Amino acid sequence: MSAEAGSPLYDEFDEIAADLWQHNAKWWQDGFTEGADPEYEEQIIPILAENLIGSRTVLDIGTGEGQLSRVALGISGVERVVGIDPTWEQISEARRRSSKIEYIRAEASQVPFSDESFDTVVACLVFEHIADLAGAISEVSRVLKRDGSFLFFLNHPLLQTPNSGWIDDQIIGEQYWRIGNYLSEQRSVEEVEKDVYIPFIHRPLHVYLNLLASRSLLLTRMDEPPPPQGFLDKAPEYYDAAAIPRLLFLRLKKV
Ligand SMILES: C[S@@+](CC[C@H](N)C(=O)[O-])C[C@H]1O[C@@H](n2cnc3c(N)ncnc32)[C@H](O)[C@@H]1O
Repeated sequence: MSAEAGSPLYDEFDEIAADLWQHNAKWWQDGFTEGADPEYEEQIIPILAENLIGSRTVLDIGTGEGQLSRVALGISGVERVVGIDPTWEQISEARRRSSKIEYIRAEASQVPFSDESFDTVVACLVFEHIADLAGAISEVSRVLKRDGSFLFFLNHPLLQTPNSGWIDDQIIGEQYWRIGNYLSEQRSVEEVEKDVYIPFIHRPLHVYLNLLASRSLLLTRMDEPPPPQGFLDKAPEYYDAAAIPRLLFLRLKKV
């Protein structure tokens, strides 16, 4: 179900999204954490660990049940990790899973820390669910120290645009990846599996990059890793599309 400006889903997106995250917290915890998800195990966690080397203080925005905060605290040299998330079911589970990390109930657009508090800010698969993207990116920039890093993971905004997918056209004998309606922002609630509805906002890549640039966040690295083997083993229908990335990773420096 997608929405246009003026419709209830568009105008009340934040309230609807908050209810859905609350309702689906356990679905996320069961399916995507503690080793359950190959894209985290084989891809996201190794990229994060490699890019945290040299950090002492880390903020994890939209921490969920805190898995990336726990990874961060295990990196040599990291002394303090804070995870924030507005979903109470996630924060309470995060606190249960680690008492060494500060988990705080807070929104990405209102980070409860003073300016230049952290060496590194992480946001993983979060900003594509948030209506106030400009507010969230402003907060990242504000709480980062000068020369600090923003480690930014997104569902690939170009190749995973809503209604994209692998087409196997038997009549004309062609296979290709179709891209959905890329250039317009789209707010939607997707049924990601039976009876599980998750809020998404699609935005074209230039919207992200121009906002980051306007908040003094300079791109220093970009990765588009192919889907890892463990994912393909669980989703063989993706085999033919294995050269189409699902994840985009950006590393930015506060200048
Ligand atoms: C897909 S989960 C990712 C969790 C975690 N980053 C990870 O990678 O395991 C998205 C998370 O974003 C959180 N979230 C939703 N709206 C948010 C907002 N406005 N500010 C911060 N986090 C938000 C949800 O509560 C949920 O925990």
